[in-house]
Amino acid sequence: MRHTRTTRTRLIGTLTAALLGAAGLAAPATAAAPPPAPAVDDGLALTPPMGFNNWNSTHCRAEFDEAMVKGIADLMVDKGLKDAGYQYVNLDDCWALPSRDADGKLVPDPARFPHGIEAVADYVHAKGLKFGIYTSAGTKTCDGAGFPGALGHEYSDARQFADWGVDYLKYDNCNNQGVDARQRYTTMRDALRATGRPIVYSICEWGENKPWEWAADVGHLWRTTGDISDNWGSMLSILKQNLPLADHAGPGHWNDPDMLEVGNGGMTGTEYRSHFSLWAVMAAPLLIGADLRTASAETFEILGNREVVAVDQDPLGRQGRVVSSEGGRWVVAKEMRDGSRAVALFNESDTAQRVTTTAEEAGLPAAGAYTLRDLWRHRTFNTAGTISATVPAHGTVLVRVAADGRWAQHPPAVELGLDGGLLFEPGRTVPLTSTVTDLGRTAAQRVSVSLSGPAGWSLRPRTPVTSPALPTGRALRTRWEITVPRGTPTGPYALTLTVRHRSPAGDRVETALPLTATVVSAPPPGTSELGDLPWLSATNGWGPVERGTSNGESGSGDGNPITIGGVVYGTGLGVHAESTVGYYTGGACETVTAHVGVDDEEGADGTVAFEVWADGTRAASTGVLTNAMPAQPLTADVTGAQVVRLVVTDGGDGVTSDHGDWAEARLSC
Ligand code: GLA
Repeated sequence: MRHTRTTRTRLIGTLTAALLGAAGLAAPATAAAPPPAPAVDDGLALTPPMGFNNWNSTHCRAEFDEAMVKGIADLMVDKGLKDAGYQYVNLDDCWALPSRDADGKLVPDPARFPHGIEAVADYVHAKGLKFGIYTSAGTKTCDGAGFPGALGHEYSDARQFADWGVDYLKYDNCNNQGVDARQRYTTMRDALRATGRPIVYSICEWGENKPWEWAADVGHLWRTTGDISDNWGSMLSILKQNLPLADHAGPGHWNDPDMLEVGNGGMTGTEYRSHFSLWAVMAAPLLIGADLRTASAETFEILGNREVVAVDQDPLGRQGRVVSSEGGRWVVAKEMRDGSRAVALFNESDTAQRVTTTAEEAGLPAAGAYTLRDLWRHRTFNTAGTISATVPAHGTVLVRVAADGRWAQHPPAVELGLDGGLLFEPGRTVPLTSTVTDLGRTAAQRVSVSLSGPAGWSLRPRTPVTSPALPTGRALRTRWEITVPRGTPTGPYALTLTVRHRSPAGDRVETALPLTATVVSAPPPGTSELGDLPWLSATNGWGPVERGTSNGESGSGDGNPITIGGVVYGTGLGVHAESTVGYYTGGACETVTAHVGVDDEEGADGTVAFEVWADGTRAASTGVLTNAMPAQPLTADVTGAQVVRLVVTDGGDGVTSDHGDWAEARLSC
């Protein structure tokens, strides 16, 4: 496993370097990438395809069958998804029998599709929807069961698909016999064309051959990455690979960061709203990947958000560009045909953060004020130019901003913020300050702020919670004192900061900021092994942070004894860059000590740097360490810090093989 992942990381690094190199040769770094080849000029997929595909919910399991596909088609109509723009009902792998018939024709699996494929296509068409199918540009498809692929059968298979009424083909990459990708995918394009039937052509070679550079006149969309899975890390990694490819997308030729996981259960509602918002702002194909027959109301609400769908489907066909990204705070802006910009304020990090930009940075012309539509709250405001929000961990605020002159009809946008950590030791009083800032060109009137939390918690304002009026840029700052009852178990708890205000016209506006408070216990006095103490949070480049062993890159407990320069250590933490492990120290500790280095298990590879942070101050750092170096002693003065963080960076050269060991890491309090 380790070697596969390492190889893949290296490959991505090489691709990125190659991309940068290519851009650098042609023009200065700031210039746009070379224009893509002319797109397929057939009027198909002028906006990113929308619909359903069964793979993310069923894989090859038996529940993928005619009843499922018909049930999904029914629900797409009945639940309003068809009206919202979802159109294709697509079959993925495993619909066929493993062998062709005597004439070389594909045979539908009679257990799954007892009436054949054409009958399912007819059913889908009768609902006013379109129908898609799957095969591979290889000798077999991707599933281990080994279904026939189309390599060498392109014209016959395309004919069969067209005869069945297929409107969309996903063409995968497995078992490709090393035949040139461009050749394989172009042959199928020509075979589809030869049928005379309009068929959207989805290239699925996982970004391996940089299809964004050559496939614009081959297919209508191309996968840019490996497969998505239903978890936060997978979604995030795919997002980061797809964002830099914005210049290559446009009507009829889209980057495809893979199908949606919304509703499959592996992410929170907040994370699924981020996934959906970010796919929309990237003009990604929106293929629902959840079994709608068992989907929750929240799943339908996310997938059915027409204002977000409109961002994705904007006819100008621009993929959003990264305006800024720092410290897990992302701003991505998408130009829309009406001149407005869709702006995603995305917080990748594990704590609420303020994410901010301006109308100008988002690409809008100078104006006295702008209208700002919040696409999840479905409310419109005016802003004097700041586009800003405190965004919950893993959340996205998605807005559409326009310089349209009608801004004064709408109440002013206000921004909610909170200064101070949300860490509470039971019985101790903690101060916090909330801020309510008027972002509008008009004044926020009759402003009042409140803070709510679990029963029994004391949440007392010490300064005023109201203001008669806040003009542009002015803030109401309120100091709070919070006491958590003794005996409260450690863990996360929900707090909500709410502000109510009125517009000059008297409209009422309520804005809520959900927050996570963490109840912590005081650090033990004396010297403790950091490998034994509970942590507040841990992020890691591959797999989980390990206690007492090196990092094995996959599951928990898959590491080796911590070994640096031939010396084996009995205690410590094993991490993989980029990594941060945070501990609550509550102002009661003095020193962190450790022996640090790259674990011997990576041979000669791996370069990292170790840092210890005391709140916002870097209290110690090693500089770049290589695998050839013995363990370095490290001591950090953390006196007075509320939180201590152990950080391992990639040493500036990417994370490949970066197994960092915090051997004998100790905390004195
Ligand atoms: C590949 C594709 C997936 C899915 C499976 C089916 O992994 O990338 O999207 O189609 O094959 O086997």
